[in-house]
Amino acid sequence: MTDAIGEELVVNPGGSLQGTLRVPGDKSISHRAVMFGALAEGVTEIRDCLLGEDVRATMGAFRALGVRIDELDEGRLIRVHGAGPGGLRAPTTVLDLGNSGTSIRLLTGILAGAGIGATLTGDSSLQRRPMKRVTEPLARMGAQISTAPSGTPPLAIGAGVPLHGIEFPMQVASAQVKSAVLLAGLFASGQTCVEEPAPTRDHTERMLRGFGVHVDVSGPRVCVNGGQTLRATAITVPADLSSAAFFIVGASIAPGSDVLLENVGVNPTRTGVLQILERMGADIERVNERAVGGEPVADLRVRAARLRGIDIPPELVPLAIDEFPILFVAAACAEGVTRVRGADELRHKESDRIATMAAGLAAAGIDLQTFDDGIEIRGGDLHGTTVESHGDHRIAMSFAMAALRAAGPMRIQGAATIATSFPSFTTLAHAAGLRL
Ligand code: S3P
Repeated sequence: MTDAIGEELVVNPGGSLQGTLRVPGDKSISHRAVMFGALAEGVTEIRDCLLGEDVRATMGAFRALGVRIDELDEGRLIRVHGAGPGGLRAPTTVLDLGNSGTSIRLLTGILAGAGIGATLTGDSSLQRRPMKRVTEPLARMGAQISTAPSGTPPLAIGAGVPLHGIEFPMQVASAQVKSAVLLAGLFASGQTCVEEPAPTRDHTERMLRGFGVHVDVSGPRVCVNGGQTLRATAITVPADLSSAAFFIVGASIAPGSDVLLENVGVNPTRTGVLQILERMGADIERVNERAVGGEPVADLRVRAARLRGIDIPPELVPLAIDEFPILFVAAACAEGVTRVRGADELRHKESDRIATMAAGLAAAGIDLQTFDDGIEIRGGDLHGTTVESHGDHRIAMSFAMAALRAAGPMRIQGAATIATSFPSFTTLAHAAGLRL
């Protein structure tokens, strides 16, 4: 389901969240399912794939590379007719990846590896995001890729350049960089190893195994050998914990709330948000824990609770990297001070999430201080205000949930960006009790 979300979203104050809810499929897993299905030999079937704009950008790029992708059963089933080894064809147009960092970074690794010449770009937000973190290790493997002078898109990938494996000690804790290098490594001669400075999401490693690839993981080091063929498989995508997080925090901060979020991915490389909220006093119960297609899944029951401010341990930052906007709303509704440092990566997301959240929360009357690498937020009373999403879906949804505890309406400008990751957000949030 896709809502028609206008540029301004007005959320009236108060209310609580109730009911059994199923948020859409995991964005990271959906991108990878489409990409790996496109590279594989055979037909991959994907159930519950997220059909937000970001994953559609990945699908559009692979269609432009000659891959047939069918949408069946009103989008519940995606069938990817894999190109197999050497089967991608050079695109005849620039590949536009819209707002999606995962699309452009992983695709750069794939195309450099496959030796396909292409130009990759995106919207104004994506054109501000750092790409050297991907192009530099790929250049060490032999790839020829140019960026804009600021190290940002557009990226131009040279055709027909063979790659060789490398040992890559990764500087930033980034699953996108790790994945881009490993995917290029599948096409390279010899072995490619990435060593990560802190654990990051491991969906690539898990799913490549599902496609029959041998992936060697030993502590922080992940290696693949070049020349392996991916074999088509069937994938069911769990609900996205990053989308569920808006409802988890909304239910936690709104008195009287009680929600059950079904079938949520709880891969331990993603659950920093649950650990942080539990330390703040949230009431989150995991029920019916199980594994779906190599990924751990659970239903999450969340009831309102009194939250208290905490110092967020730096090791949890990469494990909750996408949830900080909504965690800052939780901090604004908590008793006392919440602090996070070592989170400079937040400045390089769809927006500078330290600056955009600080601006919106300050406008809503919250006392806070920002640092280069973090923020300190003192819990308080939220006023209604007007905030700007800065083209960032998670900023828009965070302030929509903040209305549950605000004294007046939250007016969110640039709300259409919500469709990049959560096209049914307003329908689901309204059904749960948000006063949209
Ligand atoms: C993602 C990794 C994270 C995350 C992004 C999705 C992925 O980015 O913020 O939303 O699917 O690999 P980084 O790896 O750059 O931290």
